[in-house]
Amino acid sequence: MKRVITFGTFDVFHIGHVNILQRAAALGDYLIVGVSSDALNFSKKQRNPIYRQADRERIIASLKCVDEVFIEETLEDKLRYIEQYRADLLVMGDDWLGRFDWVKPKCEVLYLPRTPSISTTEIIEIARER
Ligand code: CTP
Repeated sequence: MKRVITFGTFDVFHIGHVNILQRAAALGDYLIVGVSSDALNFSKKQRNPIYRQADRERIIASLKCVDEVFIEETLEDKLRYIEQYRADLLVMGDDWLGRFDWVKPKCEVLYLPRTPSISTTEIIEIARER
């Protein structure tokens, strides 16, 4: 049984998120998703996500392709999460290309191409302009 893990904020859930989660799920038998906490997002971007973490977590958990969800509290703890959830494969979008190669002795790493022309940031900007 191959266990796949991926991480993200998944704020203002969109089709790019669906695509990467379905593709990640198709690469194994069991998909685990680390949803980054509000505090982690605030420290990274100096703003809170639109959807609070409990809601982002529930949205991801409601997807058919997702088997398990947890809140990611720190970016640097990828290896600890990989070990805790016994992941064989880490999947990330290619905006992270090369950034997690350091976990490779413990876990296979694959970067998937992002869905073009959509992001949470862009959706927020478009909504703001209207
Ligand atoms: N992702 C993707 N295609 C997109 C947008 C996101 O494949 N068009 C992937 C990212 O590469 C990541 C995961 O979805 O692996 C979660 O990304 P996240 O940062 O939550 O979404 P973004 O839309 O990129 O958010 P933001 O604009 O705030 O960076």
